[in-house]
Amino acid sequence: MIFREAKLSDLVRLRELEQADVEAERPFNSSIREHDAIYYQLEDLITSQNSKLVVVEVKGDIIATGYGQIRDSKRSLTHEDHCYLGFMYVAEGYRGNGINKQVVDELIAWSKSKGVNDFYLDVYSENASALLAYKKAGFIPTLLEMKLNL
Ligand SMILES: CC(C)(COP(=O)(O)OP(=O)(O)OC[C@H]1O[C@@H](n2cnc3c(N)ncnc32)[C@H](O)[C@@H]1OP(=O)(O)O)[C@@H](O)C(=O)NCCC(=O)NCCS
Repeated sequence: MIFREAKLSDLVRLRELEQADVEAERPFNSSIREHDAIYYQLEDLITSQNSKLVVVEVKGDIIATGYGQIRDSKRSLTHEDHCYLGFMYVAEGYRGNGINKQVVDELIAWSKSKGVNDFYLDVYSENASALLAYKKAGFIPTLLEMKLNL
């Protein structure tokens, strides 16, 4: 298993996994578009100095992903910037083996090397396996998004 930074030549596979990620979350949000649901600016995540997109490769195929992106924080907070984690995806047959934990650990180390020690991510409250994985990585729930569809 190889952990490495994503390259622009990975884009086709990354877009497939992005759609798999969308499908994994569809049960938790009835407002997700049926077609063309785009989550990520993948080119930006690969090329920007402020982000790192990690992929996990098995026999030449990418089976897991995750990015960290340094973002400005709200002015009311004690930290000026934070690292936002996203595109946490592990292909079905590989889940529950600590792969996501290793990706998160790598992104945390990268962020800390830039002096950024606060981390945030969004997760659906009904996504039990994702919540478990993030809690095991040390995350605690904070903000709860509420919505109303009329
Ligand atoms: C969420 C997701 C990325 C987790 O990846 P993963 O590689 O399976 O997670 P890990 O194995 O690193 O999980 C870390 C810990 O959580 C536990 N865990 C993860 N999923 C679990 C499950 N379904 N049941 C029980 N424990 C689980 C792991 O056992 C591990 O605990 P351990 O360190 O004591 O062994 C993966 O389930 C996934 O791709 N889901 C679909 C996409 C998705 O919903 N992404 C999240 C968007 S916010």
